[in-house]
Amino acid sequence: MDLIPAPRSVELPARDTGPRSFLLGPDTRIAAADGTEGVAGLLRAELSAATGFPFDARSPGDGRPAAPAVSLELDDDLRAASGPEAYRLTVDAHGVLLRGGGLPGLLHAARTLRQLLGPQAYRRAPLPGSTWALPAVTIDDAPRFGWRGVLLDVARHFLPKADVLRFLDLMAAHKLNVLHLHLTDDQGWRVEIARHPRLTGVGAWRERSMVGFRSGDRRDDRPHGGFYTRDDLREIVAYAAARQITVVPEIDLPGHNQAAIAAYPELGNTDVVDTAALGVWTDWGVSPHVLNASDATLRFFEEVLEEVLDIFPSEFVHLGGDECPKEQWKASPAAQARIAELGLSGEDELQSWIIRHFDRWLADRGRRLIGWDEILEGGLAPGAAVSSWRGYEGGIAAARAGHDVVMCPEQHVYLDHRQAPGEDEPIPVGYVRTTEDVYRFEPVPPELDPAAAAHVIGTQANLWTEFMASARDIDYRAFPRLAAFAEVAWSDLPRDPAARDWSDFERRMAVHLARLDALGVEYRPPGGPHPWQRWPGVAGRPSDGP
Ligand code: ACM
Repeated sequence: MDLIPAPRSVELPARDTGPRSFLLGPDTRIAAADGTEGVAGLLRAELSAATGFPFDARSPGDGRPAAPAVSLELDDDLRAASGPEAYRLTVDAHGVLLRGGGLPGLLHAARTLRQLLGPQAYRRAPLPGSTWALPAVTIDDAPRFGWRGVLLDVARHFLPKADVLRFLDLMAAHKLNVLHLHLTDDQGWRVEIARHPRLTGVGAWRERSMVGFRSGDRRDDRPHGGFYTRDDLREIVAYAAARQITVVPEIDLPGHNQAAIAAYPELGNTDVVDTAALGVWTDWGVSPHVLNASDATLRFFEEVLEEVLDIFPSEFVHLGGDECPKEQWKASPAAQARIAELGLSGEDELQSWIIRHFDRWLADRGRRLIGWDEILEGGLAPGAAVSSWRGYEGGIAAARAGHDVVMCPEQHVYLDHRQAPGEDEPIPVGYVRTTEDVYRFEPVPPELDPAAAAHVIGTQANLWTEFMASARDIDYRAFPRLAAFAEVAWSDLPRDPAARDWSDFERRMAVHLARLDALGVEYRPPGGPHPWQRWPGVAGRPSDGP
């Protein structure tokens, strides 16, 4: 069947049990049980576009027998046994039955059905002469992890709303279910905040961008910018929710804030730098301009977060907490006075104190903080969770301390990193991580005991966009590796990476590439980039290892 991600179980009918396929045709109905109309609507829209058939819900009503159907049902027993994301898909000569433990499971069943129909099912208009045969089969499936995430950095390069919606479709096609949207950074602020309009009025654009890594000393001298209105974000959240994807917003604190300080200079360390002279950063890297720790600045970000909570209903809200240079706080009399007033041991504790402030603030509002693994260093409220990015170590410590963890170590699943050695990769940064390397990534380190391992709630691939200026660039870096990642996050693969059947995945991937072609995804071809996907002469920063 060449499904990606691989399902738990596929059963084919015995040889002599009659017709071995079911054909979709102009009379095929989509029959939705009560409560499943939303999933049925999505399935109808996708299949109607690809096939040109109406998939009417109604029976003929004139005494003729009802046409064969694709039926959708919720199944309480399945839910009790395997959870809301579990599904069973059955195709026989009479039709198709999709059953979900809950709506997420039903949607996953619909995704699998589309894969079974072949690459043409991913097109938005029918090709002449297409036929739509489904093999007789029973598939039982459920995910390994509840958090199957992707980070999109829309701060370094703004990704237009239409491209975000398309990316959600691509995630859904791979049964990925968390979009971590990195909305703010030194190089741009991308979320409209009504109470503080300069955040986007000033903070959403920069005068120019660095092209490639700093060592190349190359700039494009073209203004870059963009932001999402609150209605854009509400649309993104609702579009994602209809596809059972949760959008987790990230407002990075207290570092990575030069864009916010350029908009509101009083947020910065005004006693050591002339923050009024700052613009949005036009370099890549980690800016030294971090927030001050005054009550007014904390209140400002509470006001920002009040609006963020209003837009994003997610349980988790990501507050960054990574890479906060301490030089300005060391030099700032105001920061030093704050440290003394709070009885803290130094700048590191000041950072932890800020994160803990917002940890409590979110908990008081029924939300949970998630942050990069640096936030562990100061101790966390019990409900807070950690994105383990600097390796497994932060995640291991967090899980042992009883915190939930999303494993996203940069050595394995930073998909901005290069996909192959050699000169052809455009702007080659980071480690070489081939599709096979990603396929052999194991999110749960073997040294965790079962109780700690249960705190690894999932895994995430991260797409940082310093070197991806458009959806085309994102396609190239994300695919096909994101398909391998989806299988790691979803499927019940051997925990020992060496025991994984790479050649079987590679064979299925060859079929999957035809699906990506039909979807219009500009993935990296297995043999290397197309000429127009290269960027000769633009400096990267390759690292050895991991
Ligand atoms: C990170 O890559 N700084 C989380």
